[in-house]
Amino acid sequence: MSGNEQIRVSEAFASNFIAPLGPQLDEFEERVSAYFGGDRYCVGLSSGSAALHLALRISGVTHGDEVWASSMTFAGGIFPVNYLGAKPRFFDLDPETWTIHVQLLAEELEKAARKGRLPRAILPTDLYGQSVDLEALEGLAAKYGVRLIVDSAESLGAIGKEGRKAGTGGDAAILSFNGNKIITTSGGGMLVTKHKAWADEARFLATQARDVAPHYEHSTFGYNYRLSNVCAAIGLGQLEVLEKRVARRREIFRRYVVALSGMGLTFMPQPPGARSSCWLTAFTINPAKTGVSREDIRLMLLKNGIEARPLWKPMHTQPLYREAQYHGVGFDEHLFRDGLCLPSGSDMTEAEQDEIIDRISVML
Ligand SMILES: Cc1ncc(COP(=O)(O)O)c(C=O)c1O
Repeated sequence: MSGNEQIRVSEAFASNFIAPLGPQLDEFEERVSAYFGGDRYCVGLSSGSAALHLALRISGVTHGDEVWASSMTFAGGIFPVNYLGAKPRFFDLDPETWTIHVQLLAEELEKAARKGRLPRAILPTDLYGQSVDLEALEGLAAKYGVRLIVDSAESLGAIGKEGRKAGTGGDAAILSFNGNKIITTSGGGMLVTKHKAWADEARFLATQARDVAPHYEHSTFGYNYRLSNVCAAIGLGQLEVLEKRVARRREIFRRYVVALSGMGLTFMPQPPGARSSCWLTAFTINPAKTGVSREDIRLMLLKNGIEARPLWKPMHTQPLYREAQYHGVGFDEHLFRDGLCLPSGSDMTEAEQDEIIDRISVML
């Protein structure tokens, strides 16, 4: 916390708007919309997964449809496809960016269009704070008439190589304010969309789909998915330090790169002109060259009370998705096998980071 959150929460208490909705939530949505330039509609929700569920449902994704997604992502960025009875099909990453392989996606869309079997939506992920190639993906979505939902849960504060803010992509993007994200509302998420009708429908569905009537009237089913006013107040305090938090994460990334990249570690690349939020610093190691595996490093750090985690396990290698189709050469599998995310929290001190760097350096 930055200190200001408590002031904003006190204001929420003073207003007596505790839950579900209230002025702090309205202001939080307005401020995020202003951050994106004022032309995006923002709906505060209880989680990033809830935002994705709504975005997919509003896209028209339904039973039997396909949604084409990055394989390397967190489960919460895919499970909502299952909630709707649809099937995910997974794509590898581009080694140049560690985000979805646009060329591969384009080839498969072309084949699917010829067979008349296009997916309902494409769902690329801004991995570890790196924006996907929005222009290219929007071009593909428009060419084939499919919806584009961008998972920007990890990338608030990032800028893509065309200068666009992460979170402004596609028909809609989703954000997460989970406790481990760049900024947090304790738990929460947001749908960010260029379509006013989508934002209206998201608000309707997120509050139990109440039709206009003095009693409870329902012509469809909804969810209890709105962000509480108190949580939104935390978000208001956090928004004030967003730029600071991103700058700190980027500094942490830079210090790791300067200290360790000459020692046989390859860090996540950043395309020229892009600004990753560096949510997590991730690298790969070549065990054949260094004689050290990512598990050697992870376990050594763990023994010293330092938690580092493997990268996301690609979804097509998860037992749940063993039937799912996958396109790629397994670059994502290589990232999982040989990659590690280092401690990257913005409250980490330089001394703590130096200890991590020193401990890894002596192994290499
Ligand atoms: C890529 C990605 N997608 C979706 C989510 C889901 O967000 P939430 O935890 O707010 O439901 C997360 C993080 O938690 C994530 O990292």
